[in-house]
Amino acid sequence: MPVIAVIGAQWGDEGKGRIVDLLAERADMVIRFSGGDNAGHTVINSLGRFALTLVPSGILSPGTVCVMGNGMAINPAMLLQEMDELAGRGIDLAGLRISDRANLIMPYHRLIDGLEEDARGGQAIGTTRRGIGPAFADKAARLGIRVGELLDPASFRDRLAEVLEYKNAIITKVFGGEALSLDEIHRDYCGCGERLKPYICETTRLIADAIDRGDEVLLEGAQGTLLDPDFGTYPFGTSSSPLAGASALGAGIGPRRIDAVIGIYKSYCSRVGAGPFPTELKDEVGDEIRERGKEFGTVTGRPRRCGWFDTVAARFSARINGFSSIALTRLDILDGMPSLKICTGYELDGKVIDEFPAGVQALERCRPILEELPGWTAPTSDVRQRDDLPAEAQRYVDRIEELIGIPVSIIAVGPTREQAIFCRDIV
Ligand code: IMP
Repeated sequence: MPVIAVIGAQWGDEGKGRIVDLLAERADMVIRFSGGDNAGHTVINSLGRFALTLVPSGILSPGTVCVMGNGMAINPAMLLQEMDELAGRGIDLAGLRISDRANLIMPYHRLIDGLEEDARGGQAIGTTRRGIGPAFADKAARLGIRVGELLDPASFRDRLAEVLEYKNAIITKVFGGEALSLDEIHRDYCGCGERLKPYICETTRLIADAIDRGDEVLLEGAQGTLLDPDFGTYPFGTSSSPLAGASALGAGIGPRRIDAVIGIYKSYCSRVGAGPFPTELKDEVGDEIRERGKEFGTVTGRPRRCGWFDTVAARFSARINGFSSIALTRLDILDGMPSLKICTGYELDGKVIDEFPAGVQALERCRPILEELPGWTAPTSDVRQRDDLPAEAQRYVDRIEELIGIPVSIIAVGPTREQAIFCRDIV
């Protein structure tokens, strides 16, 4: 049985949680390998509507082991809140496992995230202010504190005291803020550690054993490729890699163990937060897509910027992730649009290009070259076969597939598990 990575191919919010939930029905294990509670994975199934930020989406499928991998940054209080909410709705958490190597999001990370954003003024990145950037920066700077350290309160206190002295100097001297209390943080985090203890473990062995047994394992991506610290619209992006390559690292498996990589693309584009977005529609068409798709952030509630499907960005994303197939989500949101446009290239400083530029200044100057296609009137939400889609919808999907050059395996035509068209094998 295969190991499948499910990867966001645009700027996040492509519907990864929805696709993971669909595949998790038959998966034995689901692993989150990056990000933290900046992610918002919405899942709607027979159990109701869930907005998950930290716990892998597989938790909604009974019997599925859900691993929060070493590549994550975890705010334990947020995690416990999410676990309590899930338990309160009757979801069994017995299958949850948390890597002892995952980094912790500390109160100073959240505080500094907000202070840095405020200090950026008009140049703010528009982060979720959940402390993600400062936590991953500390990981790289060897100032991070890891989940496993919660289990040894005395040495956790020593390490915290050392790091907090430095963080408090930044908070008070650079930002003029108030110092945080060592005692309070130590008490709160040890309390969380006590409650999380039954779930914390070494996870690489668990995962390797599952793969060796032939279990079906899903690697659940968070955020999207174009927010990647290397390949995204840097510095307007997140701080851990959402790419397929990072899925092996953030779960602790070798890259050769991954059998398939599904790229999740929404049938149009959206972005939340600042940064270049070449096909953005700053007009009534963009407003209409936002309203139809209820495009407001799961985590922050912010309105998402909306625009046409961008195949320049999509091809780039497919290349750097090595997608084996594509899942196209939210096709039904476009039902009834009189016409649709697909971006096939950019015009940059008078020249036509078909590559996604590295620099944000160049990207800001890119004008999309748009191809117009007719819309369709018949609803797609009850369609279960690709051939039964309205002819114009088939043409739209065919054209996207042709321009990206990767086959479509799943088309989502609504939020529920049933509202999906399986076009070909995933592996
Ligand atoms: P951070 O990850 O909170 O540091 O935010 C950095 C950028 O990534 C901001 O533009 C956020 O809006 C964006 N971002 C972070 N997580 C998500 C997500 O799950 N979906 C969409 N955008 C996200």
